[in-house]
Amino acid sequence: MGLYGARIAGVGHYAPERIVSNADFEKMFDTSDEWIVSRTGMKERRYSPDDVASSDLATRAAKHALERAGLAADEIDCFIVATVTPDYLFPATACIVASNLKQAGKPAFDIEIACSGFIYGLPIAASFVRSGVFHRVMIIGVETLSKIINMEDRGSAILFGDGAGATIVERVAAADDCFLACELGADGSNPKLLYQPAGGSREPSSIAAIEQRRDKVHMEGREIFKVAVNRMVETAKVVLERAQLTPADVKWLIPHQANLRIIEAAAKRLHVERDRTVINIEKYGNTSSASIPMALSELIGRGSLHDGDVILFTGFGGGLSWGSIVWRWAA
Ligand code: UT7
Repeated sequence: MGLYGARIAGVGHYAPERIVSNADFEKMFDTSDEWIVSRTGMKERRYSPDDVASSDLATRAAKHALERAGLAADEIDCFIVATVTPDYLFPATACIVASNLKQAGKPAFDIEIACSGFIYGLPIAASFVRSGVFHRVMIIGVETLSKIINMEDRGSAILFGDGAGATIVERVAAADDCFLACELGADGSNPKLLYQPAGGSREPSSIAAIEQRRDKVHMEGREIFKVAVNRMVETAKVVLERAQLTPADVKWLIPHQANLRIIEAAAKRLHVERDRTVINIEKYGNTSSASIPMALSELIGRGSLHDGDVILFTGFGGGLSWGSIVWRWAA
């Protein structure tokens, strides 16, 4: 426990308007709505216009979260963005978002841990406020994955979409702490399971790299699938035990939205029924670090989250990386 406690004061999200359906992919390559729905649960995803970058989506989500929290941007002390699709490799997208919100001068930085961005980012934000370093921290998961999709790889092209989810974490008394437990992990021994080969220091961008589409997402889907369910379930069990809770105490399971089959397998092994599992994958596909805060934001929008509800967040992604958090909702 820290000097103080942490609560979530507001959550918002934003998804670009353009909808790309499974039928759109049927026109692009050899696939079918039936294959995509049965293998992934996805029906639609959102793509950003060419002139829209991650900071634009993040700023919209941030404004939504501020509005819901009844806070002004100048009441946020630090801005964190979790993304694998930053505006630029550097500077950090968070610096641009803070300036968009007229908060230039405030601390702002990015974390890059792929689909686990929110699972890592929420504990970082909570730790800042629990230790007294900041009063309020905004953590935004945002992706414009449509910009790095390899349309020549039908196995991965259908999966990814764009979106942003913003969460404001604020200081409360230690006795009112909502951050009950977290367990994080990573294994970089095979980074190529899910990665963007070119554009970094291992393989700087080149004409050959672009011609071979090495500047786009590459993924070993089947390998990730196996690891994902195990890691989500293992860490979820650890956090529940640490918080002295059982699956029956969990009001909402909010998993990373990567594949409906992964979500269903994890939920089954955790003994959490479908009506307590938050799923919006059919509308947005996999939005990486944005998926969990977007799902949380939609749950709040439906009026389904109540004071005292226990939330189990669980996710995994590139790295590989994974983790789970148990969080008590305080209205
Ligand atoms: O956020 C973390 C990011 N990544 C993930 O979570 C990915 C996790 N993995 C998955 O979600 C699944 O592995 C996929 C959805 C990517 C693939 O599903 P799968 O059941 O593992 O399929 P597969 O890769 O084993 O492919 C089965 C077949 C193959 O054909 P053959 O070799 O059996 O003839 C593929 O070529 O399905 C074929 N296939 C497709 N067919 C129609 C692959 N993609 C498609 C497609 N449409 N879009």
